[in-house]
Amino acid sequence: MSFPEHRPRRLRRTPAVRRLARETHLVPSQLVLPMFVREGITEPSPIGSMPGIVQHSLDSLRRSVAEAAEQRIGGVMLFGVPETRDAVGSGADDPNGILNLATEAVVAEVGDALVVQTDLCLDEFTDHGHCGVLREDGAVDNDATLERYTAMGLAQARAGSAMLGLSGMMDGQVGAVREALDAEGFTDTLILAYSAKYAGAFYGPFREAVDSQLKGDRRSYQLDPGNGREGVREALLDVEEGADVVMVKPALPYLDVLADVKASVDVPVWAYQVSGEYAMVEAAAAHGWIDRRGAIMESLLGIRRAGADAILTYWAVEAARWLRAEL
Ligand code: PBG
Repeated sequence: MSFPEHRPRRLRRTPAVRRLARETHLVPSQLVLPMFVREGITEPSPIGSMPGIVQHSLDSLRRSVAEAAEQRIGGVMLFGVPETRDAVGSGADDPNGILNLATEAVVAEVGDALVVQTDLCLDEFTDHGHCGVLREDGAVDNDATLERYTAMGLAQARAGSAMLGLSGMMDGQVGAVREALDAEGFTDTLILAYSAKYAGAFYGPFREAVDSQLKGDRRSYQLDPGNGREGVREALLDVEEGADVVMVKPALPYLDVLADVKASVDVPVWAYQVSGEYAMVEAAAAHGWIDRRGAIMESLLGIRRAGADAILTYWAVEAARWLRAEL
């Protein structure tokens, strides 16, 4: 009888060897928590399709952010849910708009302990739910939207946001916002470009989370799920326009794009594990069909392995707690 010449199993024999042989690691500082803050409420309001996640009041947001800071996660990404909306999303660049007020409150609460980030997009603030302003014929007007984004970016920078998350998928948005920031002296404000953001079904629960008014879809600005090279092209353009970090979103269905973008750029690459990815695991776990903690940690590790330097995930604080307990 002949013996195997190669024995890769040696590296898997004991927990100690496996720990030493692990190629990819996850640490709390690589996790960013997306958070929702809603205008006009005094108690947090649960989001049905995202069990465990709430729309925060300003007070509960402050408390929750302090808890996130205690777990030493990397940062928080804030989304605002305004009480009133209009065609141009006026609440977005109003210094008293909910997102800008929340940003000030969060920065006052945690200072530099977390990187406080803000979603820079009009969809939460428009009465039609699109990420930009509309032309007469109903199409999203790219260049008119850029003017709204620069106003919104400046308002967020003034409110103290350290990093602007440009998630609207308009052409030229990174360059336009960078130029406006620099002209006003905000040369230190970071830009996170949602470069390869795909149109699709996985944002469903988020629409409930922000009380989205959208009828129709975002296929004229977000990427087609079949296109990998186009995602890389978008990331390269964003780097050229001055993005400090580029992102791929959603995460699990797009790990190939994540790996390709990682190989193509020299800035950090992040991934957004979106609301639908969260809801799938939570729903299966609630039925007892999947090991919740195992599935969460495996999905995060897989996203890291594919190339993400950091991950936006609704499990950021819980995962950080587990990771710290394992040390
Ligand atoms: C746009 C935005 C969306 C998400 C983050 N930023 C919604 C969309 O593009 O329709 C989705 C995040 C998630 O599903 O968790 N402001």
